[in-house]
Amino acid sequence: MNLSSIIRERRSIRKYQDKDIPREILNELLEDALWAPSGTNRQNWYIYVVKGEKKERLLESMKQTSRAIKPKLEKLFSEEIVNSTISFINNLGGAPVLLLVYMPKHTYDLSKDMSLSERYKIEYDRFTNTLSAAALIQNILLLAKEKGLGTCWLTAPKLAEERINEEMGITDMELVSLVTIGYPDQDPRAPRRKGEKIQWIGY
Ligand SMILES: Cc1cc2nc3c(=O)[nH]c(=O)nc-3n(C[C@H](O)[C@H](O)[C@H](O)COP(=O)(O)O)c2cc1C
Repeated sequence: MNLSSIIRERRSIRKYQDKDIPREILNELLEDALWAPSGTNRQNWYIYVVKGEKKERLLESMKQTSRAIKPKLEKLFSEEIVNSTISFINNLGGAPVLLLVYMPKHTYDLSKDMSLSERYKIEYDRFTNTLSAAALIQNILLLAKEKGLGTCWLTAPKLAEERINEEMGITDMELVSLVTIGYPDQDPRAPRRKGEKIQWIGY
């Protein structure tokens, strides 16, 4: 597959086969993904590859997420979409492996009177580390697609971050996202892409 097809045909997978991923395949994928760009080349990212009993305990934490998110979803979507979203959050589609991507924890105070550039100076580390981790995650998603693996990038687990971090024994880092990974057991249709996103200037 060429890169354009990998980008266009990657889908968020929310149902996985009950099939383990060989560690060598995952390791190769993650080592490649780590060639992502990062702000001032800090590479301030950490990946936890979780399966087995610890994964099951994380799923218990995810139930807290679904309770927190349900009222919000109910305001926006039909009952069918709410139920499928909640059931995915509860069992993460049966994914055999969860990837938890972390960055250092940053604390700061923002005032609403600050200019954007003043804000940026204060938020710089968190902003840059978040973007860098996002580049790493996108690499993971695309490399997985190339290897016949499915993924779903989730930020919903941040709603249960304290509990997840406690389960992971992590105190000094912030969870960026959770990525489910495994062999897909569905072939979802591509959600519509919105137009009018590119402005050509001087053409
Ligand atoms: C930053 C980010 C956060 C996301 N969080 C969630 C999530 O919490 N739960 C979920 O089911 N999907 C999540 N997604 C997946 C999106 O819903 C999905 O990418 C989008 O609907 C487009 O579908 P596609 O990935 O199949 O192209 C997230 C995606 C991104 C990039």
